[in-house]
Amino acid sequence: MDRERTGALDSKHRARKKITAMLVLVIALTAGNIIVGIQVQEQAKPAVYNISLETPFKEAAGGDVVIGAAVHTWGLKTDTQYRAILETHFNSITPENEMKMGLLRPNQTGFYWDNADYLVNYAESQNMTVHGHTLVWHSQVPGWLDEFSADPANDREAWRAMLKHHIQTVVGRYAGRVHAWDVVNEVVEMGFGGENGYRKTVWYEKIGVDYIKDAFIWAHEADPSAKLYVNDYGICSDLNKLDFTLKLVSQLQGQGVPIHGIGFQGHVSLYGPPVDVIRQAVAMVNSYDVDVWVTELDISVGGKTNIYSTFLANRQATRYAEVVEAFSRAERLVGISTWGVYDGSSWLHRPEQGVFQWPLLFDEAYAPKPCAASFATALSTHVAR
Ligand code: G3I
Repeated sequence: MDRERTGALDSKHRARKKITAMLVLVIALTAGNIIVGIQVQEQAKPAVYNISLETPFKEAAGGDVVIGAAVHTWGLKTDTQYRAILETHFNSITPENEMKMGLLRPNQTGFYWDNADYLVNYAESQNMTVHGHTLVWHSQVPGWLDEFSADPANDREAWRAMLKHHIQTVVGRYAGRVHAWDVVNEVVEMGFGGENGYRKTVWYEKIGVDYIKDAFIWAHEADPSAKLYVNDYGICSDLNKLDFTLKLVSQLQGQGVPIHGIGFQGHVSLYGPPVDVIRQAVAMVNSYDVDVWVTELDISVGGKTNIYSTFLANRQATRYAEVVEAFSRAERLVGISTWGVYDGSSWLHRPEQGVFQWPLLFDEAYAPKPCAASFATALSTHVAR
C-alpha cells in the first residue's frame, strides 16, 4: 500500500476514535433576564453509514451520458479495490496527470508513453472511453520549456511549430482511441467580462491569442473523429468568465474552428456556488452549439475538521444531488467525471498535511458514502433520458 493512502487511512481511524468535548457558551434570554451558562457538548461524531449501491453509476445514468473518473496508473496497477470501484461504476477514464505535457515530455525531442499507453490499453480492455487531458495548459509543463523560452532564436514560429508537433504527435498516437480531448485548459481569466479576458499564459505570451484557435485545428487534423473541448474551472460560478468563454467558442466556430464542447471542471464545495448559479450557467450554455461535460467533479467539505461528521456526510449527499440535477439541465450533457476514484486518491484530501476535504463518492476505506447513493439517485432521476 502506498504512503499517501496509508496516511489517509490512519488519519481516518484516528478521527473515528476521537470524540472531542468542546465548551459552548450558552446565552439564553429568559423573561428579560440573561442567563449565562457553560455546557459541555460532544463535538460532531464521525458519520456511520452502510451504503449499498444497487445500480452502478454508469447504468443509473441511462447510457447516453458517460460517467467517468480521473485515474492514476499506480492505482490501476497496484490497487484491486480501486480498480473494482472503477470497473463497477464508471465507463470513462481521464488520465489525471499522465497525458499532461510535463509528464509526456521529459525532454524536448522525446516522448514518454508508457503510462499514457497503459491507461488507453486499460480503458479499451474494460470497454471504457478515454477523455484526454490535456494538450495545452500553462501548469505541469516540462522543465525544458524554460530553456526553450530563454533561447532568443525561438521566435513565434518556433513556438507554434513546437506546440503543433506536441499536439499532433499526442493526438495522432491515440487517434480513434481517445474519444475526447481537453484541447486547451484554463485559458480565460476569472472575473472577466471585458474584451481581453485571455489568461496570460506562456502560450499566450509567446504565440498570441491564436494559439487557442490553432490548437483545435491541429488536434482536429491529427484525429478528425475526436471531440474537442475547452476546459476550465470557475465557469459554473463566475458567469462573466463563462460568458467570455462561450463567446470565444462561438466566434471561433464561426471561423470554422472545430470546437465541440465545454468542459465544466466542477470543483465545487458544500457552500458554493449556489445551485441557482450553476443552473444559470447551464442555461447560458444551452443557447450555444456545444456539448457539455462535467470534467472534474468533486465537492469539498471545508478542510478544517478532521471528522467526517454525519452533518457533513448528509450535506455532501444533498449537494451532490443538487449539483447533478443542475448540470442535468444541459441539453447536450454527454459526460460527468469525478476528479478521482475515492477520497484516498483525491488531490484535495491531504490528511497528512492537515487538510480534510473528503470530496469524492467513496471514502478512504473505499466504502460508498451517502453522497454515492444520492449521486446514483440523481443520475437515474435527472440524467437518464
Ligand atoms: O510525479 C511527481 C513525483 O515524481 C514527485 O515525487 C511528487 C512530489 O511531490 O510529485 C509528483 O508530481 C505531482 C503530480 O500531481 C503527480 O502526482 C505534482 O507534485 C502535483 O503538483 C500534481 O498535482 C496535480 C495538479 O493537477 C497539478 O497542477 C494533481 O494531481 C491533479 O489532480 C491536478 O489536476 C488539475 C487538472 O489537471 C486541471 N484542473 C484542476 C485540477 C486540480 O488542480
